[in-house]
Amino acid sequence: MMKNNIPYPIYFDSISEHLNAFLSEREFSKIVILTDTNTSEKCLPNLSMSIDRIANCDIIEIDAGEASKNIDICTGIWSMMNDFHMDRHSLLVNLGGGMVCDIGGFAASTYMRGISFIHIPTSLLAMVDASIGGKNAVDLNSLKNMIGTFAEPEAVFIAPEFLDTLPERERLSGYAEILKHGLICDAAYWETALGHMGMGNKAMLPIIERSVGIKSRIVAGDPEEAGPRKLLNFGHTVGHAIESFSLSNDANPLLHGEAIAIGMICEAYLSFKKNKLPETQLHRITMTLLDHYPVYAFGEEDFDSLIGLMR
Ligand SMILES: NC(=O)c1ccc[n+]([C@@H]2O[C@H](COP(=O)([O-])OP(=O)(O)OC[C@H]3O[C@@H](n4cnc5c(N)ncnc54)[C@H](O)[C@@H]3O)[C@@H](O)[C@H]2O)c1
Ligand SMILES: [Zn+2]
Repeated sequence: MMKNNIPYPIYFDSISEHLNAFLSEREFSKIVILTDTNTSEKCLPNLSMSIDRIANCDIIEIDAGEASKNIDICTGIWSMMNDFHMDRHSLLVNLGGGMVCDIGGFAASTYMRGISFIHIPTSLLAMVDASIGGKNAVDLNSLKNMIGTFAEPEAVFIAPEFLDTLPERERLSGYAEILKHGLICDAAYWETALGHMGMGNKAMLPIIERSVGIKSRIVAGDPEEAGPRKLLNFGHTVGHAIESFSLSNDANPLLHGEAIAIGMICEAYLSFKKNKLPETQLHRITMTLLDHYPVYAFGEEDFDSLIGLMR
């Protein structure tokens, strides 16, 4: 378990042991699991097999994909929570990637003015980023995370074995956030993380722990993003614009981390232009990210819409 400066425990590995202990220490009137169509097929069976209390829970399953992260789906979740007789002493278990953690955290933190929830992140991005920090949200049409809450889970359970079924492209997308953690505050970690990129999922545990540590420390110092937490947005002003642009223009749009990799190259370039970042480091960052992430082409005619999106 990691004792961060943040006020809830984050457990690593040995999920059945940690989750069993957590569930037997706490008296919840009802436990319901939120999944998406992929995590209910790939992740839930393993969890149910090793944890009795999970095997008997009611399940709320939503369609996989960012398109589900909206208020209509959330209304459906609230209705099912009510149908399952969840009350203020119940627990919602969010089993999934960042989409499930975000909408599940939002649904739980607003249902009956807020009930307990935990995150069991199953994507790399959710393990190192979305499940940490207490931000919960749904999208408003195409505007990402416009409606949300700051509310903390009771605990987070991180088990790298879930990564075994995660598609490689999703894994690489999550890895962009890990590389970001190195770039924003730990040069040695950036090198270590690069060295681990091709390794198996079990070997990922120390990397995940270190990234969670970095994010937790930054969040603990600034839980509601008054200042220092903005560090975590490195690559995201440009990256989010490119992500939205790609979503509306491409048949096979960029994933979040792929867009953030491009955003980090652009923002490193800005740092160089402002004379803060040495050219050798800009070169290293650019070449490394281009080695692992797709190039994205746009022309001068797209600048206006990209700048509009950045605003
Ligand atoms: N709250 C925060 O602080 C925060 C931070 C970063 C990102 N986010 C949010 O996180 C979301 C992106 O997260 P994501 O990349 O995990 O997306 P996601 O939850 O949509 O997961 C990506 C895909 O992988 C599938 N998947 C997840 N785990 C799997 C597994 N173990 N095996 C097989 N398939 C699996 C999902 O079903 C989905 O199809 C966005 O909505 C973003 O806004 C939130
Ligand atoms: Zn991100």
